[in-house]
Amino acid sequence: MTTLDTLCLDVYKVTSQTSDNDRLSLLVLQACIRESLGTYAYLEIGSYLGGTLLPFVQDQHCQCIYSIDKRGMLQHDERGVVYSYIANSSRRMLDGLSRHCSREDLDKVRCIDGISRELDTAQFEPIDFCLIDGEHTDQSAWEDFQLCLHVSRPDSVIVFHDADIVYKGIGRVIQYLEDQTYSFNAYHLPDVLFVIELGESNYFRHALVQEHILKNGFRGYLSSLEHTEPFRRFYNTLPFKILRNVWYFLCRKNVVP
Ligand SMILES: C[S@@+](CC[C@H](N)C(=O)[O-])C[C@H]1O[C@@H](n2cnc3c(N)ncnc32)[C@H](O)[C@@H]1O
Repeated sequence: MTTLDTLCLDVYKVTSQTSDNDRLSLLVLQACIRESLGTYAYLEIGSYLGGTLLPFVQDQHCQCIYSIDKRGMLQHDERGVVYSYIANSSRRMLDGLSRHCSREDLDKVRCIDGISRELDTAQFEPIDFCLIDGEHTDQSAWEDFQLCLHVSRPDSVIVFHDADIVYKGIGRVIQYLEDQTYSFNAYHLPDVLFVIELGESNYFRHALVQEHILKNGFRGYLSSLEHTEPFRRFYNTLPFKILRNVWYFLCRKNVVP
């Protein structure tokens, strides 16, 4: 039986913009899905060098993989900085992956250079596991989720990476699922993953997920909050601190009744 100790982060042989805790969380979900479904299909939005793709490429149980990536040079982000991705191409990613897997494994990967709102959903086979790690804006997170929802099976899992950045987009997603009376469960995994299990997937009941949450759940909470530290520090620099104190004083916001 798979336990946390038997999951090995060494499968992440290609550079990935994820932390060790993120990787462990993804391996936990992958193991649960493999165990319950036998074979499954994976879709990822935002692959860059293929770091988060490789564990699925190497998994014989994963029979079909879609890698959707805009492959642009510049990436907008809710943190207010435009990030540059140099020489970002599917060719480069596939070359990198090919050093760690067989030709047959690599042939499972279907690369789509584009953005979710422009894709024809009819081209996809039904998906069991989606990872959203593309543009880190609330609007993109929302649009990426809509694509995933349309192409996924009723009992699938959709995971957001960098949930601490696109939390408003995720909030909109949750509101939508509730308004449309979808059956779902949602929870946070360390460090910055937000998991939505649709229908009766119920992976959160699996012993592996439970063990991971008990041992490491708190790490994700702290790490997500620590990512907001630069904003807190900036907000507490002297001019803002004085202005806020004057404002609070004038509005009596600093008075505890
Ligand atoms: C954070 S990186 C992905 C990292 C990867 N998952 C990993 O950990 O190795 C983000 C990727 O999303 C792509 N991207 C940016 N905007 C996008 C969009 N609107 N739709 C799809 N992909 C996008 C970028 O080209 C970049 O390769």
